[in-house]
Amino acid sequence: MCGILGTVIHDGVNELRETLITGLKAVEYRGYDSAGVAILGPNGLFINKRAGKIAVLEDHLGGDVLSGTVGLGHTRWATHGVPSDNNSHPHQDFRERITIVHNGIIENYAELKQELMTMGVEFTTETDTEVAANLIGFYYNGDLPAAVCRAARRIDGSFSMCVMAKDQPRMLIGIRNKLPLLVGHGPGVTYLGSDVTAFLAYTREVTYLADGEIVVIDGPACRFMDWRTGEPVVKQQERVEWDIEQAQKGGFETFMMKEIHEQPAVIRQILERYLPSEDAPVYLPGLDDFAAERETRLISLVGCGTAFHACKVGKYMLEGLAGVPCRVQLAHEALYHQAPIGKHAVTVAVSQSGETADTLGAVRTQSAIGSPVIAIANVVGSSLTREADLTLYTMAGPEISVASTKAFTCQLTVLTLIALWVAEKFQRKPPEELKRLKTELLGIPAKMELILESKYTLEKLARVYRHVDHFYYLGRGISYPVAMEGALKLKEISYVHAEGYAGGEMKHGAIALIEPGFPTCLLAPRSNLVDKMVGNMEEILSRKGEVMVVTNVPQRFADYDVHVFPFPDCPQVLSPLLMSLPLQLFAYYSAKLRDRDIDQPRNLAKSVVVE
Ligand code: F6R
Repeated sequence: MCGILGTVIHDGVNELRETLITGLKAVEYRGYDSAGVAILGPNGLFINKRAGKIAVLEDHLGGDVLSGTVGLGHTRWATHGVPSDNNSHPHQDFRERITIVHNGIIENYAELKQELMTMGVEFTTETDTEVAANLIGFYYNGDLPAAVCRAARRIDGSFSMCVMAKDQPRMLIGIRNKLPLLVGHGPGVTYLGSDVTAFLAYTREVTYLADGEIVVIDGPACRFMDWRTGEPVVKQQERVEWDIEQAQKGGFETFMMKEIHEQPAVIRQILERYLPSEDAPVYLPGLDDFAAERETRLISLVGCGTAFHACKVGKYMLEGLAGVPCRVQLAHEALYHQAPIGKHAVTVAVSQSGETADTLGAVRTQSAIGSPVIAIANVVGSSLTREADLTLYTMAGPEISVASTKAFTCQLTVLTLIALWVAEKFQRKPPEELKRLKTELLGIPAKMELILESKYTLEKLARVYRHVDHFYYLGRGISYPVAMEGALKLKEISYVHAEGYAGGEMKHGAIALIEPGFPTCLLAPRSNLVDKMVGNMEEILSRKGEVMVVTNVPQRFADYDVHVFPFPDCPQVLSPLLMSLPLQLFAYYSAKLRDRDIDQPRNLAKSVVVE
């Protein structure tokens, strides 16, 4: 959940303050409780760390030039110990010889701490990271890689760490166990980062560390080993396709607004790659071979949060279009519930980051019983993509805002394409119906653009509801998970309590809350369920509740005293792709009117890499 960054200058001394602060800001979405830097230079070791966002740290650093040979930076999402200056990273061993930044959790920290204390080690923070620093310090006798490997072998849990020693002015160690870490190879500088955006401003040449690997950066030299055995590992350098412009706001006031606006373009890009025209068959690289080798009787979809909602929409698509039975589980539930599925059930794991611990755990549980795994992921080279038998990339580009928007609609697009691919390959629908759906799908980006053009209507609607504390979102069928996603968006960025319900469930309890002024957002795409949604609306209005309707059959609601946001017509199965945008924008403006920190909502972090 934390963002980490390291730099080693190959030769001489460089100004490192700017590099570290720029890099940390790029990974701030991973955690923003506190931040800190350490710079080892000709004048010794300089450390500054502060509770609060990186801007607070920047204020404390002032305008001083901070030159050095090795630098470390960290932005924290607190797990052990409150966010405070003292608990912020970097941490040191008690003799102040070793300095580290860490992402993850050391599960046996209490027992290690006890052991170290009996040997005279003193602790000054509440963190598990300080235990790792002291363990490395305890083993350090001038051979830093050996000390780090020895300490790592004693640690239970998930971690990626960057470690430096005060008496090794050109050396930085990166070590990975279950959490991402990669090396960036820049001209004259080598970087370590918890993700590529940490150093994307400087280089796109990277080497990904796998679990159990350590990298020793020593000036310009860079060698990789297995930290359990000490054996050298040969690694391939890769070039990432993302560029720095994609990771910047590009004139928008927030990343979230930028990412909402990117949706037509990124979906066009997916379609160009996987469905170039309505006459072409859907092409999903690797899926032919994957399917040829297996008989699939069930698809088991897993994900968390927004990705879970994508899975739920995917079930309606895969069952409705392709006739494949599906089950959907929250990844953290799948992790501890062994369902009676086996090799005939394909697991589809959906994740933007590809690093969500619960999703990785569910994938491991399901593959342990023989279920092959398809990942639908956004981040290239992420852990999920390495563990899956096949990855279909969502190609959304970097998603920086904590609240997911474009990743969600890209996940929906890939799921639609999988459903069309199955329907086409196994003749589950007549060819003319499939061609019509493909034509409609290719038209979705242009319809998204129309919705974005009417965004100010959603700003006005957000104003209407600017003082409410609660919101219901109702949908039926494929719109039900979209309602859940709409509620999640509102909740996470505006802090308004919101719940997404299946329309039919209202009278089984939820309707008890409806009273004069209580707002409900109804999702009513053209379908056989519109009359049922009208029924829900009438029940709410008769109790003097307020209703806002997102629909592509606005005439059906014209005679009622409700707010209507019309969206372009489309087949029901594609409506989640369009309805998501007004819900994202409504949540956005609601948060803005409440003066919330939209890109970095409280208590959250972008990648949830701990269970
Ligand atoms: C909500 C949101 C989260 C993520 C969830 C899974 O806007 O972003 O609910 O969807 O934490 O993350 P990934 O997709 O990275 O596995």
